[in-house]
Amino acid sequence: MRKQITAGNWKMHLTKDEAIDLVFQIKNAVKDSGKRPPEGVEMILIPPFPWLPMVSQAVHNVPGMHAGAQNCAHEEQGALTGEVSADMIASAGAQYVIIGHSERRQHFQESHDRLKEKTALALKYNLTPIFCCGENLKERNAGEENRVVEKQLTDSLFSLSKEEFSRVIIAYEPVWAIGTGKTATPEQAGQMHAFIRETIENHYGNNIARQVSLLYGGSCKPGNAKALFSQQHVDGGLIGGASLNAKDFTEIYFSLWEK
Ligand code: 13P
Repeated sequence: MRKQITAGNWKMHLTKDEAIDLVFQIKNAVKDSGKRPPEGVEMILIPPFPWLPMVSQAVHNVPGMHAGAQNCAHEEQGALTGEVSADMIASAGAQYVIIGHSERRQHFQESHDRLKEKTALALKYNLTPIFCCGENLKERNAGEENRVVEKQLTDSLFSLSKEEFSRVIIAYEPVWAIGTGKTATPEQAGQMHAFIRETIENHYGNNIARQVSLLYGGSCKPGNAKALFSQQHVDGGLIGGASLNAKDFTEIYFSLWEK
C-alpha cells in the first residue's frame, strides 16, 4: 500500500536552538505515546538548509521519521552562489526534497521547465521529490483548478519514466489555503486528489496511480486533519504553520495512525 505521510515544512523559521528544541519535543512526544508507528506511516521534518544535517542526524534510525529539504538547485554543481544541490542534500542525510512549492513558483519565478530539471536531479541522487501543485484563488473562482493542476503535473513530471514517476510524492496545496487559515473542505481536497490520481492513471496506468502518495497542504491543523485524511485519496499532509508546534504537529501525525 502507498505510504501515509505527515511532512512538516518549517519554511524560513527557527534559529538553531529553536530547531533543536522542536526536534527534541517531537521525538519525545512520539516516544511518550509508547507506540511504534504503523507500517507505512511516516513523518518527514523539513527544516531550513543550515539545520538539515542536524535534523537528519536526530531522526536517523528513528522508526518512521525522516528529514527533507525545502528546495534543490536545478544544476548538479557549479558557479551558482547561494544554491544547494541535490547531491549535497542527499549527502547531508536527507531523503526527501520539496520541489515547486507555490512560494518558490511565486517569489523565485520557478517555471514548469525549471521544476522538471530539479525533479530529475532529485531522483538522480535518490531523493524522493515532494512535488507541489495547486491553483490560486482566481483560478479556483474561474473553475480552472483541474486544468491548472493537470498542466503543472504534465509539464514538470509526465516526461518521467514509469520507474522514476513511481518514486515521486505529490502535494496538492491550493495557494488560497496556504497560511490563510482557509482550509480546503475535505470534499474539495478529496475531489482534487481523486482528479490527480485519475490524471496519473491516464498517463502511467492504474498500478502506478494506486501507489503514489498524494498529500494535502494548506492550513492543515489538528482540528481538521482527521476529516481531510479520511478522504480516500488523501494520504497525509504537508504542514506549514502547525509543524512549528510539537504538540500540534504530532497530533496531526497521530491522526494519520488511525486512518
Ligand atoms: P500552512 O500549513 O501554514 O498553510 O502551509 C502549508 C504549506 O505551504 C506547506 O508546504
